[in-house]
Amino acid sequence: MVSALLSCLASGAKEARAFHSGGVGECEGCHSMHNSQSGFPAGGGGAYLLKGGDASSTCLTCHQVAGDTGPASYHISTPNGEMPFGTPPKQLSPGGDFGWLKKTYTWYADVVSPMSTSAGDRHGHNVNAQDFGFQQDGKNLTAPGGAYPSSALSCTSCHDPHGTYRRNQDGTISTSGKPIKESGSYETSSAPDAETSVGSYRMLAGTGYVQPGMTGGLAFSYAPPNAVAPSTYNRSEATSVTRVAYGSGFSDWCRNCHTNIHNGTYSFSHPAAGFASGATTGNLDATMINYYDQYIKTGDLSGTAANAYFSLVPFEVGSQNYGILKSIVTTTPTKGPDLADGTPAVMCLSCHRAHASGWDYGMRWNTKTSQITSNGKYSQETLLYQPFGQGRTEAEALQAYYQTPAVKFDPNQQGLCYKCHATLPQ
Ligand code: HEC
Ligand code: HEC
Ligand code: HEC
Ligand code: HEC
Ligand code: HEC
Ligand code: HEC
Repeated sequence: MVSALLSCLASGAKEARAFHSGGVGECEGCHSMHNSQSGFPAGGGGAYLLKGGDASSTCLTCHQVAGDTGPASYHISTPNGEMPFGTPPKQLSPGGDFGWLKKTYTWYADVVSPMSTSAGDRHGHNVNAQDFGFQQDGKNLTAPGGAYPSSALSCTSCHDPHGTYRRNQDGTISTSGKPIKESGSYETSSAPDAETSVGSYRMLAGTGYVQPGMTGGLAFSYAPPNAVAPSTYNRSEATSVTRVAYGSGFSDWCRNCHTNIHNGTYSFSHPAAGFASGATTGNLDATMINYYDQYIKTGDLSGTAANAYFSLVPFEVGSQNYGILKSIVTTTPTKGPDLADGTPAVMCLSCHRAHASGWDYGMRWNTKTSQITSNGKYSQETLLYQPFGQGRTEAEALQAYYQTPAVKFDPNQQGLCYKCHATLPQ
């Protein structure tokens, strides 16, 4: 393997326009010959002649950059020194900023309760990146509901660094066949044709994927999901939402590692659609669609379908038709669930972010409180008791809500489960 790598490095890798271009970028972006002695990694360099100390550290050499003034394109993590106490991480991409994993919050809810804690490692996926201070999760030894070991969790657990998964003209996904011409993630991406394919959404890995060094039993069972992101996806949502058109397959994809989550064996049980893994509930019926369209905030049901979409509570369109998905991404304001587009459904990313968030379990909103605002504010930062903001400053909570102004909500806004549910079944 190493000799194959070396000969490729020696012969000069293929040209890359952006870096990955939906497939394998220049080998030299991630692998280095300069760290090696006689073909073996020397001090400082990682295994596989990686540029960083491990796989995730290698990714973060480009994906975490010092000195950003705000959300910046493909950056998905904020350096330690740039998010001091009370100051949130900077990136607002759909997956979320891994910097939240380094933010631990404590607060008192009232005069009788003991101090509460929201530990940093509860805020999402703890990738192991030794050069950047990201450590293994302190609680979960494996993926809850599955066997994937937390000690091996890295960027390349989910993203194939060599971008081999591709979407073909007939909609199938394969790891070989036609060459990958570009990223398949965007509304500006061209369609696969008879000669070429495009990368899977976000270079996510699919069926059969197993990282080197892992045993075969952990190989993925499900394909990469179908989705389209807008080309400007990492931005403040203060005045308009950023809409990824989640198409289909997200819940199945997460079940590659979380096989039995929320299916009744866990404390919190909730449907999440997924054909491949055999889910039978999770579709939004006409009544729920209507409610999603009308719901604006607690006490306000005056919304309309044309601008009902809310990125803090997304849903799956229920379609693999990229023409439809692209048309949805470019619609502003953006519409709610529509039976004409597909079979809309609740999925894992309706509630969670893929990387990390400001709340426990990488949630899109704080599910550990009965109200997400109080007296028109997210935080009670100046008060002794903080049952709602829970130790976050207003600036941090606002960023965790992707800059959605608190005044868009009711002054005493309930949790966002109510975007879909008129009443919550007990
Ligand atoms: C985006 C970063 C990235 C790029 C670009 C990249 N690699 Fe890798 N490569 C990795 C990582 C990370 C590993 C370690 C295994 C893992 O975590 O998946 C790896 C492992 C390998 C391995 C050993 C394991 C295996 O999968 O067989 C070989 C061989 C390899 N790379 C070859 C290449 C070649 C050849 C190129 C250029 C055509 C290339 N890589 C480009 C990140 C990259
Ligand atoms: C040499 C710098 C560099 C390294 C190292 C690097 N990336 Fe990237 N990455 C980029 C750039 C630039 C973009 C945006 C342009 C593009 O998509 O090619 C990007 C985009 C991406 C995207 C979105 C791609 C799409 O088509 O939707 C993913 C996912 C990603 N990187 C994952 C990784 C992972 C995982 C690693 C480590 C294995 C890694 N990157 C290492 C520079 C890098
Ligand atoms: C648990 C799986 C998982 C891990 C671990 C993971 N990603 Fe992702 N990543 C995703 C998914 C899923 C998306 C798509 C999110 C969306 O569109 O809502 C994504 C999106 C992205 C994007 C596009 C921007 C965004 O936030 O949507 C980049 C860049 C990226 N990942 C890089 C990385 C890097 C670098 C690492 C490691 C530091 C990493 N990812 C670790 C699953 C993962
Ligand atoms: C490659 C395997 C893998 C995939 C795919 C994966 N996860 Fe995870 N996930 C893990 C592991 C391992 C942990 C435990 C380590 C941790 O909590 O950081 C975990 C933990 C979690 C947690 C608990 C976080 C916490 O702080 O307690 C949530 C929530 C979660 N995953 C949601 C998702 C969602 C949603 C998806 C799909 C977008 C997904 N996962 C895909 C491996 C995976
Ligand atoms: C309707 C919202 C919702 C949906 C949909 C959802 N989750 Fe969750 N998830 C939650 C909540 C709320 C919690 C916290 C439960 C608790 O406090 O016990 C949670 C917790 C988790 C945890 C951590 C469990 C633990 O014991 O540490 C994982 C892992 C997870 N979810 C994965 C998933 C995956 C994978 C999917 C899709 C198959 C999914 N979730 C769909 C709301 C949701
Ligand atoms: C994106 C829409 C959506 C969101 C957001 C959502 N749900 Fe649901 N929920 C559904 C759907 C769809 C069903 C399945 C309805 C059916 O099949 O009858 C469901 C079913 C339920 C059920 C019945 C469970 C069962 O097994 O039958 C409960 C309880 C529930 N949801 C609680 C919640 C809670 C709590 C939250 C917030 C943490 C939440 N939901 C957020 C769409 C949603």
